[in-house]
Amino acid sequence: MQIAIASDHGGWNLKAELIEYYKNKGIELQDMGTYSSDSCDYPDIAETLCQAILNKKAEKGILVCGTGIGISIAANRHKGIRAAVLYDDDVARLAREHNDANIAVFGGRTMKKEDVFRRMDIFLKTDFLGDRHLRRIQKLDK
Ligand code: RB5
Repeated sequence: MQIAIASDHGGWNLKAELIEYYKNKGIELQDMGTYSSDSCDYPDIAETLCQAILNKKAEKGILVCGTGIGISIAANRHKGIRAAVLYDDDVARLAREHNDANIAVFGGRTMKKEDVFRRMDIFLKTDFLGDRHLRRIQKLDK
């Protein structure tokens, strides 16, 4: 599975830690920026990663900003994108089972990296349940 990752400056450190964590597991995340710790705008970062998902360059994505809020708002303005802020372990599972979330979002300034790694692992191993949940997510893009 191709997994892309991107962050603004507020998520810069956590992005690097996620890349390292998955590298040690033999999984290479596609780094879509930002490529320095200089200040940048999270809507631009979300746009790049969302286009990669929508154009099938990656199946799943990870977005990080300071809180996870701004970049999730930006991502969810795209039809076909379902970005979920994974603020606890059950939410990480339910975001896949019920929402078929294709982007996991984290707060680089608000979340501990151990929590983020664990939630991301849950997100990646959990499948969408379909059925009534499919009907609901189809309504999102009408
Ligand atoms: C950047 O300072 C910060 O506003 C951004 O990373 C994010 O937290 C916005 O929601």
